[in-house]
Amino acid sequence: MDSFLIKGGTPLRGEVEISGSKNAALPIMAAALLTPDPCVIRRVPNLSDVHFMGSILESAGATVKFQGDTVTIEAARVKGVGDYELIRKMRGSICILGPLLGRTGKALVSLPGGCVIGARPIDLHLKGLRALGAKISIENGYVNATARKLRGAELFLGGRAGPTVLGTANVLMAAVLADGVTIIESAACEPEVIDLANFLNAMGARVSGAGSPTLTVTGVRSLHGAEHEVIPDRIEAATFAVAAAATDGDVTIRGARADHLHAVLDKLREAGVSVERSGSALKVSRPGRLKAIDITTLPYAGFPTDVQAQMMVLMALTPGISIITERIFESRFMHVSELARLGADIAIEGPSAIIKGGKALSGAPVMASDLRASAALVIAGLAARGTTEVSRVYHIDRGYENIDGKLRQLGAKIVRQEAS
Ligand code: EPZ
Repeated sequence: MDSFLIKGGTPLRGEVEISGSKNAALPIMAAALLTPDPCVIRRVPNLSDVHFMGSILESAGATVKFQGDTVTIEAARVKGVGDYELIRKMRGSICILGPLLGRTGKALVSLPGGCVIGARPIDLHLKGLRALGAKISIENGYVNATARKLRGAELFLGGRAGPTVLGTANVLMAAVLADGVTIIESAACEPEVIDLANFLNAMGARVSGAGSPTLTVTGVRSLHGAEHEVIPDRIEAATFAVAAAATDGDVTIRGARADHLHAVLDKLREAGVSVERSGSALKVSRPGRLKAIDITTLPYAGFPTDVQAQMMVLMALTPGISIITERIFESRFMHVSELARLGADIAIEGPSAIIKGGKALSGAPVMASDLRASAALVIAGLAARGTTEVSRVYHIDRGYENIDGKLRQLGAKIVRQEAS
């Protein structure tokens, strides 16, 4: 397994280009199952999760061709089955459930299983699909869903932690070919859901209200192929913004959508970070001392849980007491113990982490655990004195395109050590 060797203490300076959004690309690729026509999706990031999704779509009968950052998917014939082993390995693949059911009237998809950040249930996905008339049973680790014909319904999709992003995507993709009108209340409002709705409408679907808690879908008989460019990855942009601040750097982030980042930019500014917009670029620097702040993660447009770990590093470098409360996932503090190895002083009290910041971090060997926690460890290594080795960086390669190359372009002393 590869690892990163990072020599800390160099402020990041220069420009970085943001890739397409992983969390938009995955459901949009799955949506291509809804038509027999070819779909061309551009600005798809070159990530292991994206290529994994490609293999899963092939296991369901589609042809998938990657050329640079463009993928062409043609699902002329579709089996209602996803490959058990493949799906079990990547949670995000659960979003083939809705399109398989919508296109073929049946879907046999492995239960995604949990991961280090939480149990990751899919009860809301199944509740929504049942409301559309699907018969669903759980057998031998599979979700077995059938529906002679899905019919529109009014349904509420909110759960104990608020809306579900991929649950909304699944129900939306099943509803576009259902008979009649579907109204999804407490739908997720994330930009990735808006991007999916835009792609579905380009295919001939009739979806309105995307970005609001109420989605209205008027079912159509069939969908045709479409071309689409995926939105930029707001979490990657946020990660580089935090890295610039944590290393006292001066970085221009190109290709991001500032309107997808209001909560993140607000908290960075509250912490004393300068974020200036020039056209579609964001210029991030640190004019003075950092200030301790409190953050609570919330569904969009609140502060995103996927930027929680990265911000914790910045707060560990900030004199004073900061409190970060995680309201979306039940165990998304795996990075705390690894940050402690670098000298961070963080105590966990239930859903909150209390960060006593201001001491310099010192490099040490640490281990990545999940995608965003790994990004946080890289940021910590860049800010720490001395050398940090981050192992198991396959976690990072799942969600960040060429992160070490992009960081080196900004002057970071980071090298990838191929596993022997
Ligand atoms: C998406 O996961 C993202 N993944 C996650 O990003 C992101 O953290 C998450 O949304 C929240 O923003 C992709 O888009 C591929 P949820 P998703 O369903 O859709 C509970 C990353 O790092 N819930 O919105 O799986 C759930 O347990 C990843 O890129 C139910 O209770 O998340 C959680 O507490 C990590 N029942 C909350 O809702 C359900 O049926 C939000 O989960 C579904 C979810």
